[in-house]
Amino acid sequence: MSERLFIFDTTLRDGEQVPGCQLNTVEKIQVARQLELLGVDIIEAGFPISSPGDFNSVIEISKAVTWPTICALTRAVEKDIDVAAEALKYAKRKRIHTGIGTSESHIKYKFNSSKDEIIERAVAAVKYAKRYVEDVEFYAEDAGRTDNEYLARVVEAVIKAGATVVNIPDTTGYCLPDEYGAKIKYLMENVGNIDKAIISTHCHNDLGMATANTMSGVINGARQVEVTINGIGERAGNTSLEEVAMIVKCHNNIDVQTNINTQKIYPISRMVSSLMNMPVQPNKAIVGRNAFAHSSGIHQDGVLKNVQTYEIIDPKDVGIDDNAIVLTARSGRAALKHRLTVLGVDMDQDKLDKVYEDFLKLADKKKDITDDDILVLAGADRSMNHHIKLDYLQVTSGVGVRSVASIGISISGEHFEAAASGNGPVDAAIKALKKIIDRQMVLKEFTIQAISKGSDDMGKVHMQVEFDGQMYYGFGANTDIIAASVEAYIDCINKFRK
Ligand code: KIV
Ligand code: ZN
Repeated sequence: MSERLFIFDTTLRDGEQVPGCQLNTVEKIQVARQLELLGVDIIEAGFPISSPGDFNSVIEISKAVTWPTICALTRAVEKDIDVAAEALKYAKRKRIHTGIGTSESHIKYKFNSSKDEIIERAVAAVKYAKRYVEDVEFYAEDAGRTDNEYLARVVEAVIKAGATVVNIPDTTGYCLPDEYGAKIKYLMENVGNIDKAIISTHCHNDLGMATANTMSGVINGARQVEVTINGIGERAGNTSLEEVAMIVKCHNNIDVQTNINTQKIYPISRMVSSLMNMPVQPNKAIVGRNAFAHSSGIHQDGVLKNVQTYEIIDPKDVGIDDNAIVLTARSGRAALKHRLTVLGVDMDQDKLDKVYEDFLKLADKKKDITDDDILVLAGADRSMNHHIKLDYLQVTSGVGVRSVASIGISISGEHFEAAASGNGPVDAAIKALKKIIDRQMVLKEFTIQAISKGSDDMGKVHMQVEFDGQMYYGFGANTDIIAASVEAYIDCINKFRK
């Protein structure tokens, strides 16, 4: 019987730290419920001391889910631990995740401290957390660049203090797979009380080795992996849950098993991407749009003869169903509701009626409605409380002429209009908008997400606008890409005018 590999999902903590990926509490609950259905063992729900929003989300997620352990992050600081314990009060199973930096540079530059003092602080934090909860995880931040001998001393001391899980983060994504595996092996062989705790991996993807490092850790004895949906996370991201789950499923010689229901992978991947406005790269393993697309003639020929020639995973095993019902203008409310449920979105009748109305409008403009479209429609009320709204937009553009836009918006119910020309339709529209909203804002990033299925598809626009030294993130989705761009810009402005 293979050993259990525990899946610790940190989409809602490490993943959510990414600028522009912030979710509100309702959205976090939606993701947490899907994580529960997916079968994750631990949900890291937030860093409660960091903001009232995080504190509240940990409380609400604790109430909303039953089976997974809810984990809250802290520094090795008593106040952090007090606040985390308070936030976890409704959790049926709870864990505090505390820790401190252990690499030379963290000890010297971050803490201006010594190796012995760091061990003292680590031990004190674990003991303090133990007053509140039985299950305490300790992280040795930057363990990837911590020398193994010292790391073993830290690990032994925190286990002695009561840590049930010890996390060995490769915080900067620096390690090579062999090196990271050897680190875990060293701890397994040199920490006297290692049998009293579980060793966890937490690998970042700065050099594209997060999953390889995680698997190397597992092969060498780690029995918990810290992962995120779609691999989102700080900088280049974390190890992705779907990759680890499918590696374990495909490779019988890695003698561990997870509790993941792999057929739920694709729906949650779409949900997280849509709610966080974070596109999945088309060639992303397991969940990318092209992950199962065979384009070369030789491959297509082979797959038609026998899928096993070029496919190691059946797309259905990760929840990609080619035969999924396609929604069109003739689909009824029940079909829409069913598709929303498959995608993990629950809503009451009033909201369903509103989404159905928008669905019919969209279905009038394009033939087939995709899952992505549905998720955009389901999230559309994010802009309901905006006090600036786009009333109309008219643009003329072409080759050899300057683009001209006229725009009408309402600000707290009052209507304003303006017109402007620009060197392209988006430029003209934004210049017209800026005539009404006269602020020193600078467009820093403007991404149009690739249109996947035909010229009538919805275009999605992500924007970053700088105002008053702060960065604001906006999103727009429309079958008209110019309108989507203006919607994204207005989304940003609504955020900084609060
Ligand atoms: O990458 C890291 O070191 C972390 C810790 C806070 C666990 O995210
Ligand atoms: Zn991290």
